[in-house]
Amino acid sequence: MSTDTVTIIDDATGKKVQLPLLTPTSGPKTIDIGALYKELGYFTYDPGFMSTASCTSAITFLDGQKGILQYRGYPIDQLAEHSSYLEVCYLLINGDLPNKQELEEFVSGITNHTMLHEALKRFFSGFRRDAHPMAIMVGVVGALAAFYHEHMDIHNPEHRLITAHRLIAKMPTIAAWSYRYAMGKPFVYPVNSLSYTENFLHMMYSMPTEEYTPNPLLAKALDLILILHADHEQNASTATVRLAGSSDANPFAAVAAGIAALWGPAHGGANEAVIRMLMDINESGKPLQAFVDRAKDKNDSFRLMGFGHRVYKNYDPRATLIRKICHQLLNDMESTGEQKKLLETAMALEKVALEDEYFVQRNLYPNVDFYSGIIFLAMGIPMNMFTVIFAMARTVGWITQWNEMQSEGKLRIGRPRQLYVGLIDLEYVPINKRK
Ligand code: ACO
Repeated sequence: MSTDTVTIIDDATGKKVQLPLLTPTSGPKTIDIGALYKELGYFTYDPGFMSTASCTSAITFLDGQKGILQYRGYPIDQLAEHSSYLEVCYLLINGDLPNKQELEEFVSGITNHTMLHEALKRFFSGFRRDAHPMAIMVGVVGALAAFYHEHMDIHNPEHRLITAHRLIAKMPTIAAWSYRYAMGKPFVYPVNSLSYTENFLHMMYSMPTEEYTPNPLLAKALDLILILHADHEQNASTATVRLAGSSDANPFAAVAAGIAALWGPAHGGANEAVIRMLMDINESGKPLQAFVDRAKDKNDSFRLMGFGHRVYKNYDPRATLIRKICHQLLNDMESTGEQKKLLETAMALEKVALEDEYFVQRNLYPNVDFYSGIIFLAMGIPMNMFTVIFAMARTVGWITQWNEMQSEGKLRIGRPRQLYVGLIDLEYVPINKRK
């Protein structure tokens, strides 16, 4: 990383400060403002991190203007076409693609650790039947810390790696059991002869009374969706994992915090919100323009869910790939009329929005969540599981980012400052003298 400088001049005092200008491998140059407070006594103000890089990272690169997404330097479309989710996990964790033997060992290691401690099973039954599976997931993932004390030295690289493998291996079991509990169905144990996604489908849908063979088309489509969601640099949930982990909190607690952040409809919860919106549109019988007009109305809180992105000011490359799978799946599978109608509505809505001046001016394009919900519906996955699957996929990203932060050896607790706008220096008034 080459270093130039940027000079800041304080107009009030004429004092100058030279700040390092860091040059990334790709992307905008970045001013290191660490010395600003010491030199000038000023903080910087950037709510929502509009111009602030919170860390250095060598994991995922994205260029929002050009619609580029790369994991460890490999373009997402190549990985989507040629790779598998577990190979992508290996890539993210280890920094490069595995050779044949490395991949076999990795897959076998993950496959053989998908079981949960039997005592953990009882956690699920502590929840109300109507609990959202994301609520269960936040709790159960946080509780994993109570089961793996022996490998929780966060300064030990081997322990960190074991934790990463454990989380990737156990997340589908936790996800599927969150669903099974809410449905009142018996928990299904993982089967080691199945692939990662087949196993998830098996734990979601099989019944002890019947033979169940996971549909290979669904397993393949799901694998692709997991690849597309595996990491996305410093999004809200990943930044949450890093911030929680910066206090040296254990990795399970940090990932549970990430799951909680992902749940919001402005982030991973959007895929569920998109389907609800498309259903409302279909039920209303109103023209699409009416919904686009509502999204533009600043006095209305309604937004087009699945549209817009903080970084992508072009088509989200994941949305392009998901849109393609969506079509294939709806053609290949026996999808219902309702699913096809939702896809038609989504495509028509996309067209209306992309031709609308408001959306054009603000570079609002469909994001990854716009089509993923329809695929999940076509797969028979219930709506409240959409974000859970996103969390399952993103776990590798969260834990890899946490591991990168810990392994740098220069970790400081994340502690933002503030621009205080409240009252000061008030005199305490005894309660009997207050108005
Ligand atoms: N519908 C209507 N208007 C929108 C939308 C939308 N979906 N998204 C952004 N805008 C408008 C804003 O009102 C704002 O308009 P203004 O300049 O007139 O004030 C402008 O576009 C910029 O939007 P911001 O909210 O400032 O952009 P920000 O980067 O803060 O938010 C976000 C990004 C949260 C994704 C936003 O676009 C949104 O709420 N989208 C809908 C929810 C969604 O799909 N979330 C999933 C994101 S992808 C993911 O997390 C996996």
